[in-house]
Amino acid sequence: MSTQGTDAGAREIGVGLIGLGVVGGGVAQALIERKDYFARQVGASLVVRRAAVRDLSKPRTVDLPAGLLTTDVNDVLGDPSIDIIVEVIGGEEPAGSFIRAALQAGKHVVTANKELMAKSGPELLAEAHSRGLDIMFEASVGGGIPLIAPLRRDLLANRIASIRAIINGTTNYILTGLARTGAVGQALRAQGIEPPGGAGFAEALADAQRLGYAESDPTNDVEGYDAAYKLAIMATLGFRSRVRPSQIDTTGITKLHPRDFQYAQELGYVIKLLAIAERIDGGIVARVAPAFIPNTEPLAKVDGVYNAVQIEGDLTGTVLFQGRGAGAEPTSSAVVADLLDLSHAIVLGNRERKYWGPEGDLPVLGLEHLHTRYYVRVTVNDRPGVLAQIAQTLGDHSVSIAAVSQKEADSDAQTAELVIMTHRAKEGSMRTALRAIEALPVVNQVSSFLRVEG
Ligand code: HSE
Repeated sequence: MSTQGTDAGAREIGVGLIGLGVVGGGVAQALIERKDYFARQVGASLVVRRAAVRDLSKPRTVDLPAGLLTTDVNDVLGDPSIDIIVEVIGGEEPAGSFIRAALQAGKHVVTANKELMAKSGPELLAEAHSRGLDIMFEASVGGGIPLIAPLRRDLLANRIASIRAIINGTTNYILTGLARTGAVGQALRAQGIEPPGGAGFAEALADAQRLGYAESDPTNDVEGYDAAYKLAIMATLGFRSRVRPSQIDTTGITKLHPRDFQYAQELGYVIKLLAIAERIDGGIVARVAPAFIPNTEPLAKVDGVYNAVQIEGDLTGTVLFQGRGAGAEPTSSAVVADLLDLSHAIVLGNRERKYWGPEGDLPVLGLEHLHTRYYVRVTVNDRPGVLAQIAQTLGDHSVSIAAVSQKEADSDAQTAELVIMTHRAKEGSMRTALRAIEALPVVNQVSSFLRVEG
């Protein structure tokens, strides 16, 4: 505690910022504008003492005294009047080293860093705990949606069966745009000739970047890595067992074809980038991939930058969290919530914070163990008996067809497109069947293979 006082306003808690970009600026702004309210809530004033930035001359949205800014992070880490460090630069390094140094200096940490917490969270939490400190990371998942605190506290009594989430705002923004008005809309009007990754995709991504939703390298968004980090964090908390990003089978949205959106719509589904972790016999399975979901499901109606996370607890049943998953204001709301929580604990004199890292060691299984339904789009030779061969191959691998239809035919190339929806089948069998189908002389290619989730 940097200073002691007799009333809430007089007592101060020193905050040091590492990073003063979109989120850091939003946090500093909130701490200034809502100072009195926060002081009443926690019994002390939260004061920004130093902020480490890369470039002192860069224009800022927040008006901090010039002397507070420094380009030397050690000015923040070594300042004895700072109680809590807020790390909002992102990425594994140097953020990880800064957080370790903050803990060594006896400071609590608040971070929005999903990559770091997904990869090294349990070690960092253990390190913090051994020093009587805490690391809080509500802002790492789902922007302003409360998710970490509920998983850590409110749902603790439950055995969590599954976490199903739309957890990346950028891709949801792009997919929503594509499904409504972008490349897919145009392609629908033009009979599906827009290539994947066409103008609509690029425009929607540029929009998401302009709005501050996308990562500095948007590959992390569109290839699903950002969603995988967030799923790893939630699953590790929810199952109380370590789930690493590298154990999550991850597919992004860049290979989707406009016709997949068209067929989804015709069949009563929408395509969403879903992050799912669930308990099955023998362990956990986890995946991030674009998937069909029935358009009647709550997750199907989550559009634009909105995220939603559906958690199935044995006592609660299904609970659904929904809100803005990216952007400066929602994310700074989560950072400030953690700051207030830690500040309140400091004011109350809590010397020990509860350890909340994983306890169990459930195996994370491969997706061949998964049991679900599938959508497959196959380009075939347009001649008699082709469908029978494909149906036979699926049957040989115990995959039962729920519906099949022949779509676009190319009379010049004498090819046609078959769209197949299956009943529930083991993914291992399904993948073996698809390899056998692709090897059939009458099949040009398996153009799409998506799970039907829900
Ligand atoms: N790039 C992330 C997203 C930001 O689009 O969801 C929030 O973590």
